[in-house]
Amino acid sequence: MTSPYGLDGRVALITGGTRGIGLAVAEALVRAGAQVCVTARDPAGVAQAAKTLGGIGLAGSVADPAHLSLLTEFTLDTFGRLDIVVNNAATNQPYGPLMDADPDIWREAFTVNVEAPLRLTQHAWRAWMREHGGTIVNICTEGATHVGPNVGAYGTTKAALLHLTQQLAGELAPKVRVNSVSPGLVRTEMARFVWEPGEQEIATGLPLARIGEPDDIAQAVLWLASDAAEWVTGTDLVVDGGTRVKPARPTPT
Ligand SMILES: NC(=O)c1ccc[n+]([C@@H]2O[C@H](COP(=O)([O-])OP(=O)(O)OC[C@H]3O[C@@H](n4cnc5c(N)ncnc54)[C@H](OP(=O)(O)O)[C@@H]3O)[C@@H](O)[C@H]2O)c1
Repeated sequence: MTSPYGLDGRVALITGGTRGIGLAVAEALVRAGAQVCVTARDPAGVAQAAKTLGGIGLAGSVADPAHLSLLTEFTLDTFGRLDIVVNNAATNQPYGPLMDADPDIWREAFTVNVEAPLRLTQHAWRAWMREHGGTIVNICTEGATHVGPNVGAYGTTKAALLHLTQQLAGELAPKVRVNSVSPGLVRTEMARFVWEPGEQEIATGLPLARIGEPDDIAQAVLWLASDAAEWVTGTDLVVDGGTRVKPARPTPT
């Protein structure tokens, strides 16, 4: 029997696919049979990831509209189709109290975290998905629905991305499914400043007793991108080791 998770013959485009969650997503999609194109700013990182994945890559920033257009064309010219887009690249700057937020860095955060996912979805829709269908997965954050110190700008962009996901799910159905995955704390460069100093303490406070690994998130993206989730759109899948429920183990009586 063919696995509903199988992606043989499908083509995926992953932003920020050179390390951390994006690379794990690309690896999971390749293992499932997809061909992949990755993008990130560092050309050496893109070349290395493309080689490791047996795919293609194009260096550039998702903040550059011309790059997003080129990226879509490059993927279609190379593989002849574009079935899956994973909007994963993001910035967590400006970090700190909102009262101190630099307006230029604030705007950059919205460009990278919100506008780029919309623009790339527009390109994919116009060039392929409107006619042939497809699926989009946006990487949000578990923190998008509550407040926390210093992450006000980041959280605001990710809350906007959650809304964008639902809006696009409504607008692009039934041809294109649009969902998001919201990770809790995952062992990557972006979050190193959080987990490195306090991993043991953080893990102890989580029901599942460890921080996340990039592949924990990749498995959720794989499910949403595959036909196994063919009746799922506009959904946010929180993958956070139980962060929201906190440990509630019964104490001995
Ligand atoms: N790690 C966590 O705990 C956590 C929790 C919740 C949500 N998330 C979300 O998960 C996603 C991935 O984060 P991560 O932790 O895996 O980060 P990461 O390890 O820092 O990787 C980020 C990736 O995005 C690329 N990138 C960054 N800015 C870019 C830009 N402007 N244009 C193109 N590529 C860019 C980076 O490559 P270059 O530097 O070469 O561009 C790299 O490939 C993000 O959306 C993040 O908000 C992470």
